[in-house]
Amino acid sequence: MYQQSLIEPKDDIAGLQSAFLNKKTLNARKVLGQFFTRSVISDYMASLIEKPKSRTVRILDAGAGTGILTASSALRCLELGCKTVHAVLYELDNEAIPHLEQTLKIIENTFSRQYGIFTYDIYCEDFVLARPDKDENRPSFDLSVINPPYFKYRLKDSPYAKAVADLYQGDPNIYASFMAVVMACMKEHGQMLTITPRSFTNGLYFKKFRSYLLTEAALDLIHIFKHRDKVFKSDDSTVLQENIICRFIKGKPQEAITVRSSDSDININNANQQQYSAKLIIDSSNEQRIIRIPESAYEANILRQVEVFPTTFSGAGYFISTGRVVEHRTRQYITEETNTSHSVPLYRPHNVTSLTALWTGKHKKEVSFMLNKGHEKHTIKNATYVLLKRFSSKDEQRRLVAGVHLEDAHDCKFIGFGNKTNYMGLSEELLTKVEAYGLAAIFNSSFMDQYFRCISGNTQVNATEIRVMKFPSREQVKEIGQQAQNLKTTTTSNIDRIVNPVFGVLSTIQKR
Ligand SMILES: C[S@@+](CC[C@H](N)C(=O)[O-])C[C@H]1O[C@@H](n2cnc3c(N)ncnc32)[C@H](O)[C@@H]1O
Repeated sequence: MYQQSLIEPKDDIAGLQSAFLNKKTLNARKVLGQFFTRSVISDYMASLIEKPKSRTVRILDAGAGTGILTASSALRCLELGCKTVHAVLYELDNEAIPHLEQTLKIIENTFSRQYGIFTYDIYCEDFVLARPDKDENRPSFDLSVINPPYFKYRLKDSPYAKAVADLYQGDPNIYASFMAVVMACMKEHGQMLTITPRSFTNGLYFKKFRSYLLTEAALDLIHIFKHRDKVFKSDDSTVLQENIICRFIKGKPQEAITVRSSDSDININNANQQQYSAKLIIDSSNEQRIIRIPESAYEANILRQVEVFPTTFSGAGYFISTGRVVEHRTRQYITEETNTSHSVPLYRPHNVTSLTALWTGKHKKEVSFMLNKGHEKHTIKNATYVLLKRFSSKDEQRRLVAGVHLEDAHDCKFIGFGNKTNYMGLSEELLTKVEAYGLAAIFNSSFMDQYFRCISGNTQVNATEIRVMKFPSREQVKEIGQQAQNLKTTTTSNIDRIVNPVFGVLSTIQKR
């Protein structure tokens, strides 16, 4: 806990932050990604700092806003007995600078009252383009606690992509560029603490970024918020990203990783905490190096159990692709008339339910795809597939919902699958009905759903994540399918009763 004398400035600093936010419109803030850190989170992040060894602790704040993170970090250093601190702060928005200066003056005074010295330099510059790591005269940093802006940019023509190309390539979001440049600025054993969306932990877009980061540094702590809202200071209800706090130590060998989880910021200081082997969290069995985050001991157990699976989804011989029909680009092919001789069913997400994908032509949302000239680019050969929904809503219980489409459900050569569904089959041969039911049952099981949640915080189900998931053998899939094809009531508990014994999972699945 902070001493009384260190608490007082915090109210003033939070007040400066609110004054700045109140001055700006939501739209103006969005352009610069100005979702500011609440003081409870800022203090929590600072509490994760371990005492730096340097005589003068050098702090880097990239995207400083009104300086709340530097303030908490500097005060934490003072609390740890580091009396001399120098901060270097980058902030692009010149309207924020006067507020930032006031914050830093408050910290300067607090330090001097405690016989310490706090100094700072502010740069009103673009942090990523400035690349301070390239300035040979600037010493590197002991500490950086950041809440970087986030927005996507176009790889082809963004100056940000060029600016970080020597560190890693293929980045679609500015927050990753911030993290990479900050990491490049750190000294050996320097600590980087970040609060960011969880999206960098999985997915193909961030593959090279993950590789850069995990090569440069050890990830030794993750804090995950189970609820997406309430973490940032914003009236914007669209901030529904799943956020995580991470601590990286530059140049340290990767050892055990601590995972903390809390519902939101309210109970952040009473987080549930577990320590896991790095192997369990970072899946190094393929080059994607997905960072898996179990929110409970139960989920960690799932990660241990999947290690026993003999193969991966692709390794077992299955493929997964996104449905080919992009409706807004193929309007001329789509008709509400169903069951015409010149059209085939077009499957949309509502056609996919647990174990069964059904298109009857009678539902008001059902449409057909006309086999006009050029349709082959959008349709595929009608065969037995398993459809997997690509999106679930935030409130939906399940992320994975899969249903079997049987070849003989429709008397046609082609079939249309919309791009809001994924379809799965065998790469080298056609899927039989039994194996299709086995696959669908596995994806509808609680086990697989929770395994997927450890991999991805996104409500979107991407084919790239499914391909590298650890998977049972085809024999096990068929064994499950034998029973699943006869299920009358396709509730999750009935499916679990079939899947769990084949997976060797004994316990009943605990609710999240
Ligand atoms: C998510 S806010 C965080 C602000 C502050 N660190 C906090 O935690 O409250 C990101 C900040 O980065 C600033 N910013 C955005 N793009 C920037 C850039 N390219 N270079 C430097 N600062 C930038 C924004 O103006 C904003 O103040």
